Amino acid sequence: MDLKIGVIGAGAIGRDHMNRIMTKLQGAKIVAVSDIHGDSARAVAEQYDARFCETGEELIASRDVEAVIVTSWDPTHEKYVLEAIRHKKYVFVEKPLAVSAEDCRKIVDAEIAGGKQLVQVGYMRRYDSGYTQLKEAIRSGTYGAPLMLHCAHRNASADESYTTAMEVENSAVHEFDVLRWLLDEDYDSARVSFAKKTRHSHENLHDPQLIQLSTKSGVLIDIEVFVNCQYGYDIKCEVICEDAVISLPEPSNPQIRSKAARSVEIFTDWKKRFAAAYDTELQLWINATREGRVDGPSAWDGYMATYTATICSQARDSGETISFQTEEIPEFYKKG
Ligand code: NAI
Repeated sequence: MDLKIGVIGAGAIGRDHMNRIMTKLQGAKIVAVSDIHGDSARAVAEQYDARFCETGEELIASRDVEAVIVTSWDPTHEKYVLEAIRHKKYVFVEKPLAVSAEDCRKIVDAEIAGGKQLVQVGYMRRYDSGYTQLKEAIRSGTYGAPLMLHCAHRNASADESYTTAMEVENSAVHEFDVLRWLLDEDYDSARVSFAKKTRHSHENLHDPQLIQLSTKSGVLIDIEVFVNCQYGYDIKCEVICEDAVISLPEPSNPQIRSKAARSVEIFTDWKKRFAAAYDTELQLWINATREGRVDGPSAWDGYMATYTATICSQARDSGETISFQTEEIPEFYKKG
């Protein structure tokens, strides 16, 4: 029997996820859709022969909805995830888990109090084949311990709505999750510096920025965030180990020889760059949910990513190096 899913938030990524569940993935179907913009959500629901629900709460409470996907705006994630936990339903929530570390902590506490892990957060880079190869290479121990990481998160351009704070809070938050997972350890301190501002930016955005993190064991990480780089969407990660340097593989686009030049396309759209990762992420979530478990980024991981963003924002605003006051991972979230 297919897993019956209800989706809250039928915007860009909500529609993308529904499309992949209904056309590419196995073992699930969309049975209900909700969005504060009723008209477009009604049309999407109709397309999939699903029901439209007036509110997210009504969708979560529906008897035919076995699992929930939350793809509404960031500030609404917390209430829907808490509601899903209250109804003891599995919930996949797009990142961030919630907008503040305190709100994430409320979700963690509610999940622990409920006694069952139900929440997965949409940090899909963990499912990208390049990052999984990188993790495998580090974990093998063949190349010695990681010492330093050089990373970059570049977008071609950012419009007027993209602000200075969003480099840390919206873009780098993916780096915070995937690098913590890659190294399998928590951060210890953060510092954020502004580079010379590009002429391609605007009044509300200081671009680029350099985020420096250190981990508990002393690994140093630098992350360049540059969202007006002009040339494309480009993600870099180079791991300097004791005996080797390991780099995130480039996406495998063909090399073209033409007009006295060799060229390889660089994606401009993050959806294309991570399309396969989104597919794998949701397929594995469906499989795990049907088996009654969570094996992807947990509520604790979501809390850690938002907490890291909070510390980096403080570091950016103060110009200081800020120390993390990270708690130990609760027993509840330790993998057996
Ligand atoms: P969007 O603006 O295209 O869609 C959001 C939808 O949520 C809109 O249709 C809006 O009407 C609806 N909505 C807002 N408040 C609601 C509420 N209270 N109840 C029900 N529906 C509500 O935004 P987009 O780009 O689809 O992003 C949605 C979420 O996905 C965001 O949290 C974003 O951070 C996350 N996201 C994650 C990505 C990733 O790489 N993992 C990539 C893009 C987005």
